Amino acid sequence: MRVIETRIPNVFILEVDGRKFLVTRSEYPPHYGERKFNGFKEWRLSRSKLGVLVERGIKIKIERDWKILYLGAASGTTVSHLADIADRGVIYAVEYAPRPFIGLLRLARERKNVIPLLRNAELPESYNGIVERVDLIYQDIAQKNQIEIFEENARFFLRDGGYGIIMVKAKSMDSTADPRKIYSEVMERLENNFRIINSVDLEPYHKDHIAIEVGYR
Ligand SMILES: C[S@@+](CC[C@H](N)C(=O)[O-])C[C@H]1O[C@@H](n2cnc3c(N)ncnc32)[C@H](O)[C@@H]1O
Repeated sequence: MRVIETRIPNVFILEVDGRKFLVTRSEYPPHYGERKFNGFKEWRLSRSKLGVLVERGIKIKIERDWKILYLGAASGTTVSHLADIADRGVIYAVEYAPRPFIGLLRLARERKNVIPLLRNAELPESYNGIVERVDLIYQDIAQKNQIEIFEENARFFLRDGGYGIIMVKAKSMDSTADPRKIYSEVMERLENNFRIINSVDLEPYHKDHIAIEVGYR
């Protein structure tokens, strides 16, 4: 087994029997059926858009001690890997659907750095006082008004100079329009309050999705 470092802490490429796997260093049990290797867990790209960004070597930045607000945590698939990366930090994980939230609770029981919040991301005031100023807001909610939701959460919680990663699903914004038109409208709107750092197509793992990285002021 060969272990290759990446630019992100606690994230590696493993070579096992001639196959390569993106993995996070983790002593915890599998959370969503991913493979476990001696001290590492497979990061399945078909299940996690952030995994695709990391695997493509995009220059995203996440530090071990970061505070992160995660909007649209679902059952915690991607949160489980972020919790491995930010092992000295904290992840405030917001999800409003009770069913996936059960999985997120299961994750939070084994991880000290995951704080699950059964809340609507449209109402950041409902978790103000629990969530502090964060270094990163990660959003994956596939909603028509998701940029407005991101802006509002940034206003409440993102520190000056903070960083955002936004997953945009074209079909959720408009099921008939050309995805490229939607992406350029989204970027234009984001430019009112943020600096666009990068945008990355997530095909073929996630159809009609892009990831946008932004800086705050
Ligand atoms: C694509 S899934 C997220 C997958 C997850 N990010 C991952 O990689 O493991 C989108 C999630 O966002 C949640 N969601 C959508 N709108 C929301 C809102 N306004 N507040 C909180 N959660 C929301 C949905 O219930 C769903 O679980």
